[in-house]
Amino acid sequence: MAVLITGIGELTTNDDALGTLHDAAIVVEGPEVAWVGPAAAAPDADERVDVEGRAALPGWVDSHTHLVFAGDRTAEFEARMAGQPYSAGGIAVTVAATRAAGDAELTANLRRHVAEAARQGTTCLETKTGYGLTVADEVRSARIAAEVADEVTFLGAHLVPPGADAESYVDLVCGGMLDAVAGSVRWADVFCETGAFDEAQSERVLRAAARHGLGLRVHGNQLGPGPGVRLAVRVGAASVDHCSHLSDADVEALAGSNTVATLLPACDLSTRQPLAPARRLLDAGATVALATNANPGSSYTTSMSFCVATAVLQMGLSVEEAVRAATLGGARALRREDVGVLRPGARADLHVLDAPSRTHLAYRPGVPLTWRVWRAGTPVA
Ligand code: NIG
Repeated sequence: MAVLITGIGELTTNDDALGTLHDAAIVVEGPEVAWVGPAAAAPDADERVDVEGRAALPGWVDSHTHLVFAGDRTAEFEARMAGQPYSAGGIAVTVAATRAAGDAELTANLRRHVAEAARQGTTCLETKTGYGLTVADEVRSARIAAEVADEVTFLGAHLVPPGADAESYVDLVCGGMLDAVAGSVRWADVFCETGAFDEAQSERVLRAAARHGLGLRVHGNQLGPGPGVRLAVRVGAASVDHCSHLSDADVEALAGSNTVATLLPACDLSTRQPLAPARRLLDAGATVALATNANPGSSYTTSMSFCVATAVLQMGLSVEEAVRAATLGGARALRREDVGVLRPGARADLHVLDAPSRTHLAYRPGVPLTWRVWRAGTPVA
């Protein structure tokens, strides 16, 4: 059945040939976009939805979340707002709560957050393991994530579990843990940071993951300057995420690579880190993605619109650049061609705003502007 969505006042396609259209329409057939163009030239369809001049864009692609978890870290957040610094050690609190939770609780928690994101326009979402840190708990997290999320990343190297020896734990991650989990994930990631894994340990994990055929991502340069970005570029990672502390050499390395710089402004704000240098990265020619980093510790939000508004209001991006980073940028970080773009053959992931233009995302920050969402051609409730 073909559905004609028409009366689109401003349509962001992210397609180089189509660009941004005014008074536009889309035809959706099954899970895919069948046609995009001026409303006046739209073909007939079985059903017609008139969005009456509202703006539409591809659904958000949230390429960095940690949503397989249990428990709550409100107290840690309150302490941080009172001046305590954020440290990787807080992860252990969520590890304990996650290990203690049953499968049903973890699944329900993940589904609740993914549904919350979808209601705000997120139609493609990556999530990670990393709050299990034993073979059994990481396998369980990966299995639960794969039931719900579009993309799953193995993050056994999130933290050395309390009481464990770092080198022995890295041996386990590179050996039995990867063997057990590799079949149910597409990506592997490592937290390369003081207090988590050093450069040599991180590289060991990434090389082992690559031998299992996994794509690579790195948490890098989050809490201070460090080797994460250079390591990510060296191993050919699809993305390096956080990037709050970048040297000129880091920016240059990213600009000369295929590694996407995934920026997480909600996390920067919540952990009182400097906002990542989005403008410098774009000006240098790097590919930038925006993502929420939704997790109970450093960034407890599923709102991509908040990230877009912050990128415009505080990081020097234009609305067009920020929206592109939160859609096509995320798709590039996940090496996906079918999402983050609206053109014939793309997945029919459409986000209609209750506003005449995408500019309202930054002009009216904090206002819930999502009006309707379709994911793979199906309306999101
Ligand atoms: O991306 N940096 C490491 N991991 C998460 C934090 C997770 C937590 O604090 O629970 C992040 O910020």
